Amino acid sequence: MIIEYTRLTEHIAAEVVGLDLASGAESIDGEALRSLLAEHAVLVIRDQHLSPPQLLDAVGLLGIPERQNYSQFNHPEYPDIGILDYEGEQKPADMWHTDHTNRECPPNATILYALKVPSRGGDTSFVNMNAAFLALPGEVKRELEGMKTVNTFDGQFEVRAADQRDFGRQVEHPLVRTHPETGRKALYFHVLKASYVVGKTAAESRLFLNELLEASIRSEFMYRHQWRPGDLVVVDNRTAMHKVHDDYDRTEKRLLHRVILKGDRPV
Ligand SMILES: [Fe+2]
Repeated sequence: MIIEYTRLTEHIAAEVVGLDLASGAESIDGEALRSLLAEHAVLVIRDQHLSPPQLLDAVGLLGIPERQNYSQFNHPEYPDIGILDYEGEQKPADMWHTDHTNRECPPNATILYALKVPSRGGDTSFVNMNAAFLALPGEVKRELEGMKTVNTFDGQFEVRAADQRDFGRQVEHPLVRTHPETGRKALYFHVLKASYVVGKTAAESRLFLNELLEASIRSEFMYRHQWRPGDLVVVDNRTAMHKVHDDYDRTEKRLLHRVILKGDRPV
């Protein structure tokens, strides 16, 4: 089966059309979907109707699901699904980031599936950090390529003892990583999970990373997704960063299921 798609912006995101993920993974060309994701960094697949097991079956086309950082947000019956409902202590990640950099092998991809969305706002934006990196001056690029971040939990939520044991070790990552399939280099960090940049203090590191986001990210490298129920969006975390727009009426429901896929050690 040929995968049909249209590009959503010049630098990032493609919408896949004519795909019914509930029809069963065996009828869909997973390899074509994976290479489309590597090429465009974000895939949008609208109008899906997926129960939790159907969602897990469908994302199996793209990789192997793994447990997320904060087990208190796991789906009670399907713990490979994280529930994003931003109620209680949960709040949207409204700054640019890539997911789970506290892992030695952070997830290759994150899948977001919308069940309920507010009448306005609560969009998710994605940015191509390969394009952002390439647009920097040559000497800045060379300097960044030698730098490393040291990462751990960001302390935003309560960390359960088992999660601390499984995911709480400090890990070092290159600030610029090379995508294993495309060979493209991208800026790679999570400001809150980076305890520090090697050679800088924690305070210097925070300022440096925020300034780097400011200097490198441009609107033309972005795609802003306005959610509808049934939207499934996949982001390649090796190329793109994302953020949630925390601008919606919090008395309205915004409920997404999230799955992360096992990744490689960034190089
Ligand atoms: Fe995220």
